[in-house]
Amino acid sequence: MAKDKKLIKPLATGDKTIPPEGAKMIPIYIMGREYVVPETLTIMKATEYAGYQYMRGCGCRGGICGACGTFYRFLGDYKLKSGLACQTVVQPNMVIAQLPFFPSNRPSYNLEKLVPAGIKQGMENSPHEELRRLYPEVFKCVGCGTCTRTCPMDIDVMDYIALMKRGDLKGAAIKSFDCVMCGLCASRCPAQISQFTAAMFVRRLYGKYVLPAAEHLKKRVEAVKSGKYLKMLDELAKKSTDELKKLYTEREREPDMTEPGKWMPKDVSHL
Ligand code: SF4
Ligand code: SF4
Ligand code: FES
Repeated sequence: MAKDKKLIKPLATGDKTIPPEGAKMIPIYIMGREYVVPETLTIMKATEYAGYQYMRGCGCRGGICGACGTFYRFLGDYKLKSGLACQTVVQPNMVIAQLPFFPSNRPSYNLEKLVPAGIKQGMENSPHEELRRLYPEVFKCVGCGTCTRTCPMDIDVMDYIALMKRGDLKGAAIKSFDCVMCGLCASRCPAQISQFTAAMFVRRLYGKYVLPAAEHLKKRVEAVKSGKYLKMLDELAKKSTDELKKLYTEREREPDMTEPGKWMPKDVSHL
């Protein structure tokens, strides 16, 4: 236990993380074992500092990929908390367990064949009906709000589920847009709903059948298919690591705070 100093054994510094000089050391518990780590680290870095190596459950390290969903409690506190390991800073007496993967409901479907052209006239198999067919559990939501309280992205998950139930697929698609697919909401749902995969389905439906087609995307896909970028890729593949680093660091960058769609690089030959 943390209060028993005899049991706290400071570990040698791991090879991944160098803590800031003078950082205070605090006790935490990873997978049931006690470690002493610098208080400035995220859960992810503290875990590496303690000597673990991530093989799964770690991706972008920047709060985007959703690979590092984590649950934790504090000693003496009954409340279960959640967050992303790469974004949540450790605190004394945290008891941590990372969720490397959560089995969710992922029914198979072919988006091309799901809904016929008449969907907008409210035909029998409208997108809402498709949602009901593939994710019937969505309609069993009991409105407990646990998913919303669990979401590390501060998304009102319960609300997008309510929008889905009402058939407001546009609202649900927009409201769930920031989802990073960590699965934490689904892991706690008493109705066993996989909110995030249902939301992905709704966004796909909305993008394919409701939003107007993006013309610029169509042009880009045609350019890719025509082989326009193959020569460039080939040239890049032949470069050394140092040459690639130089290219990357010297590239023309979009200035901060540019209005969307207003900036173009001087050299457009690669677009
Ligand atoms: S909606 Fe669910 S899967 Fe998406 S970020 Fe929030 S908790 Fe994670
Ligand atoms: S946790 Fe499940 S049952 Fe509770 S509000 Fe969220 S979706 Fe509904
Ligand atoms: S590693 Fe990608 S969100 Fe944490």
